[in-house]
Amino acid sequence: MPVAKKRETSTTKPHPGHRPEESVRLLIPAARVKQRLKELAKEIRRDFPTEPLHLISVLKGAVFFLTDLARELGGEVSFDFLSVSSYGKGADSTGEVKLIKDLDVSIEGKTVIVVEDILDTGLTLKYLLRFFEEKKPKILRVVVLLDKVERRIADVRADYTGFVIPNEFVVGYGLDFDERYRNLPDVCVLQFASQGSVNSV
Ligand code: IMP
Repeated sequence: MPVAKKRETSTTKPHPGHRPEESVRLLIPAARVKQRLKELAKEIRRDFPTEPLHLISVLKGAVFFLTDLARELGGEVSFDFLSVSSYGKGADSTGEVKLIKDLDVSIEGKTVIVVEDILDTGLTLKYLLRFFEEKKPKILRVVVLLDKVERRIADVRADYTGFVIPNEFVVGYGLDFDERYRNLPDVCVLQFASQGSVNSV
């Protein structure tokens, strides 16, 4: 599984239109994300070659990941979204998971792939898996784009993982800080002029 390390040659730059005290450092370029998505889609289709797949994403961080992955998967694919809150404003986890928007359609008897942006403490995924299992899907699998393995608290793991990343707060490709940076095409580490990067502790 690819491990996204700090890039020796990466530059830190302010993101146009955003706060002058914040800057971003490139971690995973958009092209690498795209390439890895093709590999993940192949892995998933190897396991479920002909099955209709029902993708479920958590708003809003995983939206780009879901839509890009859906286009790589081919075959019959449907999707649905739910919304939970696991973070307050900013970079720190509260450890609290609350359902804000439920699924639109039943998942009973379906082959469900939960599409998550990032696995951090794992508390959100643990909550989601319990929630989905009660709804009796035929199969339940998890794909995550990014995994901060060293931050794990809950005993959960993804079936398919894009990249293992270090314990740093990342933005871009759907991931936000205070709702900003989601539209960055690359996955980047968020840095403050005063502090350097924000460790998510
Ligand atoms: P967990 O419950 O701690 O695993 O956190 C999962 C959720 O926290 C993710 O779906 C994100 O919304 C958010 N999150 C965790 N780490 C980061 C990060 O580095 N950047 C942006 N959001 C994050």
